[in-house]
Formats: sequence, C-alpha cells, structure tokens
Amino acid sequence: KNIVILISGRGSNMEAIVRAAQAERWPARIAAVISNRADAGGLEFAAAHGIATAVVSNKDYVSREAFDAALQTVIDGYAPDLVVLAGFMRILTPGFVDHYAGRMLNIHPSLLPLFPGLHTHAQALAAGVTEHGATVHFVTAELDHGPAVAQARVPVLPGDTPDTLSARVLVQEHTLYPQAVRDFVDGKLTMAQEHTQVLEH
Ligand code: GRF
Repeated sequence: KNIVILISGRGSNMEAIVRAAQAERWPARIAAVISNRADAGGLEFAAAHGIATAVVSNKDYVSREAFDAALQTVIDGYAPDLVVLAGFMRILTPGFVDHYAGRMLNIHPSLLPLFPGLHTHAQALAAGVTEHGATVHFVTAELDHGPAVAQARVPVLPGDTPDTLSARVLVQEHTLYPQAVRDFVDGKLTMAQEHTQVLEH
C-alpha cells in the first residue's frame, strides 16, 4: 500500500510513522512526504530516509480551491491508498476531502469531540479538565469532526502550561498515530464503522 504524508512543520508524527513502518516492516511504503511550506523541518528527515518530498506552497495559489486542486494532483501522482495529515495546518475544501473519503486520516491533539480547532492545550487548561489527549480520526468536511478511530489519554497535572501539556500529549501521539496507520494498512479501519480504541496511560 502507498501512504502519502502531509506536513506543515516539525513533522515529528511523520517521523514516528516512518520509523514504525521501517522497524515493523509494514506491508506498505511511505511514497512521499508533501508540505505546504518549503521550510518544514520534517522534509529533511524524509529526504534523509530516501522518501520522495514535494512542496506545494499555498502562497502560489489565489484560492483554496486552486491550491487543493494542485495539491491533489501531486498527491495522486503517488497513487496513495492512504493520505495521512500529520500537523498539516490547512483547512481543506469539501471537494478535496470527498476525493479522499475513507482514505485520509488526521491526528488532533485533544480528546475529540472536546476542543476542535487551534490552541487545544490552552483550551483544555482554561476549561479545567483533568484529562486531555489526542484523537486520530477520518477526515470529513467539518474540521476535526470525522469518525474517531483511536484516542490516547493523559492526565492534566497541577502547574501545567500549554507547553508541558502538549509535550505530554505529543509523546502519546507518537505511539497512537503509527498504530492507527498500521491498523488502516492491515485493513482494520473503515470510515463506516465506529472503532475507537482508547489507550490509557
Ligand atoms: C501535533 O500535536 C498534531 O497533533 C497537531 O500538530 C502537531 C504536529 O506536530 N495536529 P508534528 O509536526 O507532527 O511534530
């Protein structure tokens, strides 16, 4: 199976997925890592691991539709069975989302349906929750609302700041996301079914 990973920055989740795929010899290959920013740190890691990289800069396009169309063309050049959003910081048009329906996953750093959108760790602290975490979900047109496939939970500790809390969540993301992608590769995940597995930590 071919996997295409989209990033916008650091790419630590992409890195965790690449490492797991290699270490566990998945019957899949990371066909490409694509970024909307040329300065995304993760591109270097991907290139150093022999993975094709591409940049499709949203700044080169006048509209979201034009950007998404160009991005789709580049992605489809790699014939993906699965598109993995890993810190890809763009809102996607419904046409793009529909094109990858049932074969596009995202990770969001909250226990969805709590705290969709940006600044989730600050949102969680402001809300005073005692637990926080991350969710892997299929991507649908409504931002951060597609069917969840896996969650990891962490405690919120006294004195937490958005930085300390996000670091605790990120450690779990690096286990959760490779596992979910692996499950997809193994044919265990379909968008129609509800199969949220909760990893307790
Ligand atoms: C992660 O926290 C992810 O959940 C969120 O953005 C962050 C990306 O980090 N969507 P990285 O680029 O994978 O290191």
